[in-house]
Amino acid sequence: MCGIVGYIGGRDATPIIYNGLKRLEYRGYDSAGIAVLQNEQIEVRREAGKLSALGNLLQKSPIEGSLGIGHTRWATHGAPSARNAHPHVGRTGRVVVVQNGIVENFLELRDELSAEGVEFKSDTDTETIVHLVEHYLASGLNLVEAARKTFQHIQGANVVVLMSADEPDKIVTARIGNAGGVVIGFGEEEMFVASDVPAILEHTRRVVFLESRQMAVVTRNGASVETLEGSRVQPEVHVVAWDPVAAEKGAYRHFMQKEIHEQVRALTDTLAGRVDFERGKIRLPDLNLTPELAKRIDKIYITACGTAAYAGMVGKTLIEKIARVPAEVVIGSEFRYSDPIIDERTAVLAISQSGETADTLAAMEEGRRKGAVVWSIVNAIGSQAMRIADGSISMQTGPEIGVASTKAFTAPLVDQYMLAILLADLRGVLDEKTRHALVSDLRLIPDLAGRTLEREADVEKLAYALKDIKGCLYLGRGINMPIAYEGALKLKEISYIHAEGYPAGEMKHGPIALIDEEMPVLCLAPKDPWHEKMISQIQQAKARGGMVAAVATDGDELVASMADHVLWVPEAPWMLSPIITVLPLQLLAYHIAAIRGLDVDQPRNLAKSVTVE
Ligand code: AGP
Repeated sequence: MCGIVGYIGGRDATPIIYNGLKRLEYRGYDSAGIAVLQNEQIEVRREAGKLSALGNLLQKSPIEGSLGIGHTRWATHGAPSARNAHPHVGRTGRVVVVQNGIVENFLELRDELSAEGVEFKSDTDTETIVHLVEHYLASGLNLVEAARKTFQHIQGANVVVLMSADEPDKIVTARIGNAGGVVIGFGEEEMFVASDVPAILEHTRRVVFLESRQMAVVTRNGASVETLEGSRVQPEVHVVAWDPVAAEKGAYRHFMQKEIHEQVRALTDTLAGRVDFERGKIRLPDLNLTPELAKRIDKIYITACGTAAYAGMVGKTLIEKIARVPAEVVIGSEFRYSDPIIDERTAVLAISQSGETADTLAAMEEGRRKGAVVWSIVNAIGSQAMRIADGSISMQTGPEIGVASTKAFTAPLVDQYMLAILLADLRGVLDEKTRHALVSDLRLIPDLAGRTLEREADVEKLAYALKDIKGCLYLGRGINMPIAYEGALKLKEISYIHAEGYPAGEMKHGPIALIDEEMPVLCLAPKDPWHEKMISQIQQAKARGGMVAAVATDGDELVASMADHVLWVPEAPWMLSPIITVLPLQLLAYHIAAIRGLDVDQPRNLAKSVTVE
């Protein structure tokens, strides 16, 4: 997860930025850099690896000045290296930029800028931003207007921070979509910009949080905030509690709410360093998947517990559809008692946020005992599920504090999609065009997620309507059937309301007897291959007097004409739709529990990691 720190004031910028980046280290990164204005020149120091490597470089080659920006980077485009580390400087050497997120249209931008004679010095999408700013400066615009034009031109979910040696009285920053936060800190004749509160908490408690599609001009005496379109904004100044836990929540009431919104950045980060958009290739080096092994595997067991198991159910569809390898989901607590049929051609894929869930670890051991190759998708670095596997994929979402799993549900959906593409590619069952299309779709995810989360107010309205219900049915089909299970689990575990996820097609074989005006039904009805089936499901529920709320794709008037409530989501490629359809359900469970005044982050009877059988 990338970190950003900027400073403008009267003190030496380097230690303030460096120490701020250290407080963001928990988020994970693979390179770091800092740019400071020294004697009217922009000096940059960048190093691959840990922050200490940058610290050593700064010892050997210090920079002094009172205006600067720094960055810790998870590689998304271009390998982790000093060359690809941020900050990135343009041709003139007078402008420097750092970014969190993915510039979705960077390929087109690179072509446009290369045609103007720009020679790119890195493989990153971020470098296109600084060259675009210089392009607009060259047309006669000042820094703020050149930055605004640039922010309007790039597409995707991004946080951008930039400065210029020619206008050393300001830092310009913007939040485009929801790729993580921009915090502006107010000091005494000094100002701070950061991607998260902990980076600047030792200097100030007075902060402003930028909203999506807002930009700010930060001088040493304050900040002016506008929309990207130029309308002035008067943001609320928050006073952050000194206590780091409260600070960690930032502007959110609960960690769960923060982590739901963090998914744009978490989804960007789980892609980090693994997708070569230009060649349409996936890189999962820690999985240790060789062509020989990929060709040998003829069965995959996916094993996990709770929410992670529902992520595995989506993964089953992805692996079978893309890699054409039979996949079966067996929950951790059943796996080792089910005498699974395993040999050296079997893979066991475990999914676990904590990496310490006893049932899941036991399933891995059973797979190993029977000769399977054992993989894991894990969030907690260094956990057992990561250590004992033959190969693993780190979710890279940063710590998940809320007991109810959110970003550690959506990240493994992306990780399994990438695994399926890599497996198919190595098995030679994926033609070049299809592979490129599947890889290219990954670029859409952060922005689609951000646009969905921006609709939180609509979900909150439905939460008020449902806050006193006694039960709820969640129905889905195909790749979105596991989202019905996951949505029901979210509601159960934090609001204590009974909810049941059920295959929509199965309702007529009994459970439809449950439906009446007291039993609301939540239908997953996005534009996917099962959409028509879900339409008839909504009709069946309505015919029995049920109140129906539907998750539907923007513009789906047919669903709108039938359902009592619609939670709209943007259109997404169907294999990635579960990443988007689950978001309103996470928010719905969250708001119902919050309205009911329950302990959202630590629900009764639950632990974040179930390390016992
Ligand atoms: C989900 O919200 C719950 N916290 C629970 O189902 C959880 O997913 C399950 O216990 C598995 O935990 P793990 O991912 O850490 O293995």
